[in-house]
Amino acid sequence: MSFLAQDLFHFLEMHSMLATHLNYGDIFKIFIGDECKVFIANAEFLEEIMSSNVHITKSNAYKFIKPLKFGLVTSTGSKWKQRRKLITPTFHFKMLDQFLEVFNASTDILVSKLSSEVGEDWTDIYPYINLLLLDVFCETAMGVKISSQEGKNSEYAQALFRYLDIVIARAFSAWKRFDFLFQFSSEYPLQEKYLETLQTFSRNIIEKRRFEKSQQVVEKTPDIGIKRNAALLDLLLESDLTNDDIEEEMNTFMFGGFDSTTSLVTFALLALADNPKIQQNVYKEVLEVVGEEKYVSMQHLQDTKYLEMVIKETQRKYTSVPIVERHLEEDATICGVDFPKGTTLTLYLYGVHHNEKYFPEPEKFDPERFLPDGQSEGHNYAFVPFSAGPRNCVGQKFALLDVKLTIIKILQKFTILQVPGYKLI
Ligand code: HEM
Repeated sequence: MSFLAQDLFHFLEMHSMLATHLNYGDIFKIFIGDECKVFIANAEFLEEIMSSNVHITKSNAYKFIKPLKFGLVTSTGSKWKQRRKLITPTFHFKMLDQFLEVFNASTDILVSKLSSEVGEDWTDIYPYINLLLLDVFCETAMGVKISSQEGKNSEYAQALFRYLDIVIARAFSAWKRFDFLFQFSSEYPLQEKYLETLQTFSRNIIEKRRFEKSQQVVEKTPDIGIKRNAALLDLLLESDLTNDDIEEEMNTFMFGGFDSTTSLVTFALLALADNPKIQQNVYKEVLEVVGEEKYVSMQHLQDTKYLEMVIKETQRKYTSVPIVERHLEEDATICGVDFPKGTTLTLYLYGVHHNEKYFPEPEKFDPERFLPDGQSEGHNYAFVPFSAGPRNCVGQKFALLDVKLTIIKILQKFTILQVPGYKLI
């Protein structure tokens, strides 16, 4: 089976182009419209910024997702602290173990859908992974089985995908980034329409679940026969948050994690197609550790160490969250350099992952860089796909387990081939 992912090729092209700026040094300035951003691809600087408890305020760039409010990712100060404390237990080991049921069941559907593509010249894998993860996220976060892989709830799915497209288009447009001008763009009414669909969907779920809890209704998920567990939603309903606050955090889950996890799975599959020998090694490990077993367990996921190295190398080379930003609320001296209050610091994760100082031959896809015996030692902040420090990714374990499981299940059934004429950058 041969996989492509048209959307992601454009994304990579753009970052590969941006990374050419590293020729001028690992700290450089870029203007987008009237805004100046200081790009930082230097591990020492990243360490000082990411580990700081002061520089935790996000930049203006996140305003493009603001219509959905977006709690934990964009908030700062005491609101952020309180929400972070509240949400962290969602990713407790025991919770993650329960999520494996959902991961397994949803990925089985993916594999059966992909079977119909065997023998085709090529398959765009991205839409398949998008729907898989939409099903996974809705069921783990909100406790609803939306079955988007089976063609249900397609209005919600389309609203989410198209909304994300508009967010990205705005972030890189010289004029659509201004709220006033954006109102005159063709995307504005569409954004409003998608927003309405997304909000109605999550509001209905919150209200229904609050009602069920007040009536102490215990629901069963019929298809997989386990007690339905809306991990995030239940946790939030037990706190003193209002329905609006809860909606904000559910959106955080969807927007903070869904797209980045989809990209990581897709990049990893494409990288395996591009590197048949590495794919063969992963397949051997899957055979040894999991064999033909249908249920992929936590133990299997912990024992697939080579696959872990491949995923890390995918995150280094294709970095699905390429930049994160901070706004300096006060003058700061970082690694001896003075930055005035108001500066936008663009922490260029893709850039540091492609900095030759830390990763020689950065364009080479080489999982051995991440050998567990420490041969690949480098600076701690040279590999930061989930950021680091107090504002690191709360969902990283969730993401890594799901990505691993998806790849294992796909390789149990299929060999992935390169599409002639296409090469990932
Ligand atoms: C491969 C998948 C993922 C990648 C590469 C990724 C990456 C990141 C990065 C780089 C940040 C820092 C953002 C910033 O400073 O602006 C972040 C934060 C965050 N991520 Fe993820 N993420 C992934 C998956 C997930 C998942 C699955 C979830 C939830 C289920 C999630 C939820 C969050 C949240 C809530 C934050 C904000 C944390 C805070 O500010 O306290 N992420 N993620």
